[in-house]
Amino acid sequence: MSAADRISNIRRWRRPTPSSTFTASYKADPDPSKINLGVGAYRDNDGKPWVLPVVKKAEQAIVADGSLDHEYLAIDGIKSFTDASVRLILGAASPAVAEKRYAACQTISGTGAVRLGADFLARFKMAPVYISNPTWANHRAIFTDAGFKDIREYKYWNPKTRGLNLDEILATFKAAPNGSILLLHPCAHNPTGVDPSFDQWKMIAQVAREKNHVIFFDCAYQGFASGSLERDAQAVRYFVDSGFEVLIAQSYAKNFGLYNERTGCLSIITRTPQLAQNASSQLCKIVRANYSNPPAFGARIVSLVLNNPQLNAEWEQQLKTMADRIISMRKALFEALTQLGTPGTWNHIVDQIGMFSFTGLTPAQVKVLHDKYHVYMTENGRISMAGLNTSNVRRFAEAVDWVVRNVN
Ligand SMILES: Cc1ncc(COP(=O)(O)O)c(C=O)c1O
Repeated sequence: MSAADRISNIRRWRRPTPSSTFTASYKADPDPSKINLGVGAYRDNDGKPWVLPVVKKAEQAIVADGSLDHEYLAIDGIKSFTDASVRLILGAASPAVAEKRYAACQTISGTGAVRLGADFLARFKMAPVYISNPTWANHRAIFTDAGFKDIREYKYWNPKTRGLNLDEILATFKAAPNGSILLLHPCAHNPTGVDPSFDQWKMIAQVAREKNHVIFFDCAYQGFASGSLERDAQAVRYFVDSGFEVLIAQSYAKNFGLYNERTGCLSIITRTPQLAQNASSQLCKIVRANYSNPPAFGARIVSLVLNNPQLNAEWEQQLKTMADRIISMRKALFEALTQLGTPGTWNHIVDQIGMFSFTGLTPAQVKVLHDKYHVYMTENGRISMAGLNTSNVRRFAEAVDWVVRNVN
């Protein structure tokens, strides 16, 4: 069979429904009361994307900087960016930072960071991988494509309490083969919006320690979840400070609004500086054969902001503006449902954190929300709080009230 025959035999891959598809059908919908809660990106109170003013400032400074050119970057990217990324997630005072016990590599946003980490583990630590159920749809695909054959799930969501299934999580990690890989969301779990409390993280760490599991944190929402960079990093810092060697994927899509600049970082925290250098060389080997070296613009923006105290303070303020707006929409939705007397309990709306909320609405209810009320959201009942604003939150609550009373 010729190569052409084999290519003509390739079956079509059915694309998942990305936020851009929602946006396309949402845009085409002429109904003026339509609401888009499918999009996984921040929107301001007018429903518009927001370019952070500090990002605009940094962009202008970069364009005006005559010393910058378009030469290739190093394989592992801009060092001032990757060093600042590690300080951001671990804290500047972390012993791992002072002792240079980290390998850090600039990546193609958070997705690229998870993929680079998966490729690294596939070479040096092939073991069962545990992903949460539910999780961000790409996790399974990334580990599968990296060559992992044994991908298992831990039940994360308790539909009865609409909260964390801690008992199941602990039991699964206890029963897992020693040295398994645990993929954890350190904050703003996607899609549930449910995070373990600090004490619950300690329990998870205890089991992971006993079983010698490998921890891989996928951190796509630092600062975006609670509005506090420290709070959103507390799980990662706890594990690292108590001696774990961990992998950390960071994304600057949400917290800098740099979605299409594909700016991220993968770090591996090791026991010794020598091991960090070894790990760093292996990350470079993978990147080199993959895309040679990363793009510059997004990383230049982040590096400029994180390394300049004045810009950094402005960024933290603007990050808080985004987080606070989302928190205020949670409150507004909860209050509207309470006022309407919508059957069921809705505390989870305010207890959950970050951009997403797992409403507990059924696929049938989601369908009616779409067909009757022009609400765009994923079939699993997940809504992006960023799509709510002071003009549409009441309307959405009334639509939810109707489907909860009339559709099973
Ligand atoms: C849990 C999680 N990981 C990683 C990502 C990757 O984001 P990006 O590749 O845009 O940085 C996302 C984005 O939605 C996410 O929710």
